[in-house]
Formats: sequence, C-alpha cells, structure tokens
Amino acid sequence: MEERIVLDEGRFLADLEELGGIGAAPGEGRTRLALSDEDGEARRWLVRRMEELGLEIRVDGIGNLFGILPGEEGTEAPVTAGSHLDTVIRAGALDGAYGVLGALAVLRGVRESGTRLRRALAVAAFTNEEGVRFQPDMMGSLVLSGRLPLEEALAARDREGLRAGEELERLGFRGTDRVTPGAYLELHIEQGPRLEDAGARIGVVEGIQGIAWWGCTYRGQANHAGTTPMDRRRDAFAGVADLSRSLRELAARVPSSVATLGRVEVRPGAINVVPGRVDFTVDVRAEAPESFGRLKEEVPRLLREAAGRHALELEAEALADAPPVRFPREMTDLVDSCARGETDRVLRLASGAGHDAQFLHFLCPTAMIFVPSRGGLSHCPEEHTEAADLLRGVRVLARGLIALAQR
Ligand code: GLV
Ligand code: MN
Ligand code: MN
Ligand code: MN
Repeated sequence: MEERIVLDEGRFLADLEELGGIGAAPGEGRTRLALSDEDGEARRWLVRRMEELGLEIRVDGIGNLFGILPGEEGTEAPVTAGSHLDTVIRAGALDGAYGVLGALAVLRGVRESGTRLRRALAVAAFTNEEGVRFQPDMMGSLVLSGRLPLEEALAARDREGLRAGEELERLGFRGTDRVTPGAYLELHIEQGPRLEDAGARIGVVEGIQGIAWWGCTYRGQANHAGTTPMDRRRDAFAGVADLSRSLRELAARVPSSVATLGRVEVRPGAINVVPGRVDFTVDVRAEAPESFGRLKEEVPRLLREAAGRHALELEAEALADAPPVRFPREMTDLVDSCARGETDRVLRLASGAGHDAQFLHFLCPTAMIFVPSRGGLSHCPEEHTEAADLLRGVRVLARGLIALAQR
C-alpha cells in the first residue's frame, strides 16, 4: 500500500520566495556565488529550516550540507534529494534552490504526517555546483563521488586568488562528517525549451550531456589603433572572434553539440588600442560519448589554429570535464511511474545543463525530475516556472523518495 503524505504547499512556495531574496537586487535577479557571503547566508537559512524540522545536520569536508530524517533502520545510506544553493551571476530563484526546497518540503511532509519509512531520507545542498567563481563546477558532488581529491578542491582559487578551502572555513562550513547517499533524486527546472515545446508537464531525465571547460588567454601586442597597419597587427580579440566562428562550425559538425565563449575580457579595453590580450572561457557539451570525445579533441586544435592565424601566444587550462551519463533504467522507470501518478503529459529527455546528479550517479542509483521553464530561459533573472508545475514536481519527488525509502 502506497504511503501518502500531505505537502504544505504554501510553506514550500514561501520558502522559495524567502531563499530567493538572499543575494537579490532590484532588476538584477540574485547572485549567490559559491562560498560568498550570500552563499553563507543561504546556508545558514537552510540550517535553521533543517533544525526546525529536527533533522540531523551533517557537513562534509567540502561543505556539502545534509539534513537527515532517520528511518526505522537508522541514518545510514539515506535516500537523498537535493541540489545546490549557489547561483550564477544575476540568476533566477529556481536553479538549484527548487531541488533543495522541494526535498525539504517532502521531508517536512513525511515528518508532519507521522509516516514511518524503512530507510532514512536526506535533503542535500552541494557546494559550488555552478562553478562560476571556483572551478570545476559540481565541486561538492565531484568530491563526494571520489572523482576529485578533497585537497585539490580546497586549493581551487578564484580570480582574486582566494582559496575555496579558506572561504569554506571563513563561512564555518568546513565539516568532518561523511554521508554516503543510498539513492539520489534531483528535482530541477529544465532550463531549456523542450518540455514547453512538447506541452509536457514533467520530464523524466534519462541522462546528462558531457561538459568540458577551458580557461584561456590569447596574447598579441597592444598597439595604436590609428597607426598600426592591418597586416602588422597581433590583435588578440581578432583571434577570439575567429575562434568563435570555428567553435560555431564545430558545434554544427558534431551531432547535437553546443559550444559557448561565455566570458571574454579584452585588454586593455580602450577605443583606440589594438587589443593586446584577451582572457576567455570555452564551454562545449554533447550527449553522445563519441561526440563529446570529438569536442574534447578538437577544441585544443581550434584554439591553436586561431592563435596561429593571428600570431598570438596561447595559454589554455582545462577547468572541468564531466562525462556524459545515462541514469539506470530502473531509476528512470521509477520516476516515469511517479510522474504518471500526477500527469499523463510526461516526456523523457536528456539534460542540457550540468547537475550534481551527474556525479552522484557514480555513487548510488540516481535519477532526475524536470519541470518546464517558461520560454526555456535560465541563468538569467527572467527564469520562471508556474507554481502549479513546481508543486507537481514536488509531488513526483515525494512519490519517488517514499518508494525508494520503503524498499
Ligand atoms: C550549470 O548550471 C551548468 O550546466 O553549467
Ligand atoms: Mn542547477
Ligand atoms: Mn545553473
Ligand atoms: Mn547546473
């Protein structure tokens, strides 16, 4: 017999709004870069919510935060759901926060309904999912999965030279606990247009595409914009513009791939000076392992070729490399059946965005649930999902967590 719980929907929506206020500025969305003061404030806010619910709080060495609701069998290998509290610059209120608060709402429902489950449940907030300030992204789940040594993650520096480990200590979130989830479900907005285009209400995520990042510099020669003949220039921005075109051609050549030059900083950045230096980032992604392999092989070559054409020096550092994953059939089928308990408008799809589930996958049976994003917009203040869709997603998550915790 299936356990049913009552979800406090009003409380969940109010929590989403309150958390969304942390780091917010009028017209600018909110910015909670990993391990910033704003991230610290969001973490403390979540800890208070967890304490109110009587959850057992655990913090591990990279600052992943867990709130555990013991089951009849104790607290080991909790069935876990969550996401992240950090955001990109000028973010919406949902990317990450939705998955954490959806999980919190389910644990609250289980506790307040007095439901007794065999296995423990946990809500998790993973450190530095976005990777905007410190690379690699998905840092907390990478460390948890054993695919990045803790010491290496703690040593990551931001552009001011501050170390992730020092920032974690400053915020008081460098813990010593160790939590190993027994299963993981992540509830997230789609962040793309596919559910909306298909008129679907819930997405069953079959896998996540691979993501590779580089941080690069082209160095040429800054020179006078009026006196330097076009054929004597070593224009670092001309190299980046050329590269931008090659990357677009690469994405057109490699099936279902995408390529982005997301941060481009031109120096000295003056109207009458040929750019002598550009610092920039490259992000490429593909779902099929062969396509992802081709991208990783071709980007370094394209970087060198554009440098060569403009007589530039190149420095390039690989910043992140997350392989494409496919979630186990058993887990996607479970999410599918939970989704169908709430709607028949269900779409199976792969995730275009990276998520902590990409690395939890290597630790325990994992799957994800998507809800539609209006206009396919995310990583911008316009990100939006209707309340009815948000609540439906939480109900699907509740069904999934309860089913897993009763096994
Ligand atoms: C993070 O949200 C990413 O997919 O880059
Ligand atoms: Mn996210
Ligand atoms: Mn994101
Ligand atoms: Mn992400």
